[in-house]
Amino acid sequence: MNDYIKESFEGSRKAGLIAAGALDEVKKIIKPGINTEFIDKLCFEYINDHGAYSAPLFYRGFPKSCCTSTNHIVCHGIPSKKILNEGDIVNVDVTALKDGWHGDTSKMFEIGEVPIKAKNLIKATHESLIKAIEILKDGIFLGDIGSVIQSHVEAKGFSVVQDFCGHGIGKKFHQEPSILHFGKKGTGEKIKTGMIFTIEPMINLGNYETKILNDGWTAVTKDKSLSAQFEHTVGITKDSYEVFTKSNSNENL
Ligand code: MF3
Ligand code: CO
Ligand code: CO
Repeated sequence: MNDYIKESFEGSRKAGLIAAGALDEVKKIIKPGINTEFIDKLCFEYINDHGAYSAPLFYRGFPKSCCTSTNHIVCHGIPSKKILNEGDIVNVDVTALKDGWHGDTSKMFEIGEVPIKAKNLIKATHESLIKAIEILKDGIFLGDIGSVIQSHVEAKGFSVVQDFCGHGIGKKFHQEPSILHFGKKGTGEKIKTGMIFTIEPMINLGNYETKILNDGWTAVTKDKSLSAQFEHTVGITKDSYEVFTKSNSNENL
């Protein structure tokens, strides 16, 4: 690995660990009756306390430090006074900017007991991300990632959101290339050692189509069906990969 790749991996590792730590804190407090602004405040403070900045805050005018996307919200839900109720599912998406490098990660939380169809959707979405991560190495194609995700979730009757994608990340929050969560094996750009990007499949229980609400941010499923998402920031090595947003306090991704 050359010096620039080493530096970018070290930077992304630090930023990723802080982002993962923020989600660990969310896990400790999330329950029925809290509002999503409380989650936002917690993330803001945790990230600040670790010498980092919440990259979503004021990013292209986004008003909060993280995204909280409940039930039929696909992504970019804005934290608010809205209370989480038993049976809700919510994605919390955090991005830490530490010493010039970004770490971007999100996961699903179940509020109390949730319906079995929601559990199944969450499980399949997480599995699709893990399966995509496991194939990563120098020389595969971007289309291989999309293909793994799409085939896994479509076999279970779910659909892949096409309006939002993963992204290159590093000194910039969002950069080339776009990481599509659907596609064909062996197509698209070749993945190279040193590349750093996110994989963040958004999977719907019903139709794949989305629309954006009047606030200009909140993306929802057109058919109001449930949507789930998980995200990790990864770096490519010659024979494998590193997940920068893996939590220290949990063996699982
Ligand atoms: N974290 C989101 C992503 O995964 C981006 C959020 S941008 C914001 O790319 F402005 F909505 F916060
Ligand atoms: Co992202
Ligand atoms: Co994100």
